[in-house]
Amino acid sequence: MGNKDIDKSIFKFDDDLNDLVNKVGHTPALRTTGDGNSLSLIQWTDEFDINVRELDGQNRALVKKINELFFCLRGYSHQIRAYAVLNELKAIIETNFLNEERIMERYEYHIYKSHKKEHNKLSKEVKKIVKRCRLDDIETLEKMAIFLKDWLIKHITDKDKEMGNYLNNKGVT
Ligand SMILES: [Fe+2]
Repeated sequence: MGNKDIDKSIFKFDDDLNDLVNKVGHTPALRTTGDGNSLSLIQWTDEFDINVRELDGQNRALVKKINELFFCLRGYSHQIRAYAVLNELKAIIETNFLNEERIMERYEYHIYKSHKKEHNKLSKEVKKIVKRCRLDDIETLEKMAIFLKDWLIKHITDKDKEMGNYLNNKGVT
């Protein structure tokens, strides 16, 4: 079997992945002490708030999902779950970006294009890595999680914050 065939048999489609995750166990078997917050990679702070309720809500969901990914990767739940979480993360990112772009367009944000360009770049990168990454490739999954963490924190505290200020001035909260 050549490499391409192996790749095909490993990646397949999301349905296969879901079947696999269901077999292994969908609920993370958490081994926590206290509330488990110390294991979270990102602790939400006011610094992340852009004061637009809808967008803050979705950014919080994103941060939560990244933390879940790290939680899986550190072995506190099935590592195989990490790949599924990465796929869930990809879906959240796509929805978040679309919502943000819809709001930016509606309120005629003057630097909409450059903001969208950043979104597109990240989406493309995530798609590429998810496609390439194997279920059991923990090293790549970890790199991906760190990359996403760094990218999103930078984006939220810089570009999204700037957009939040603009929207706040337009009366959007
Ligand atoms: Fe954004």
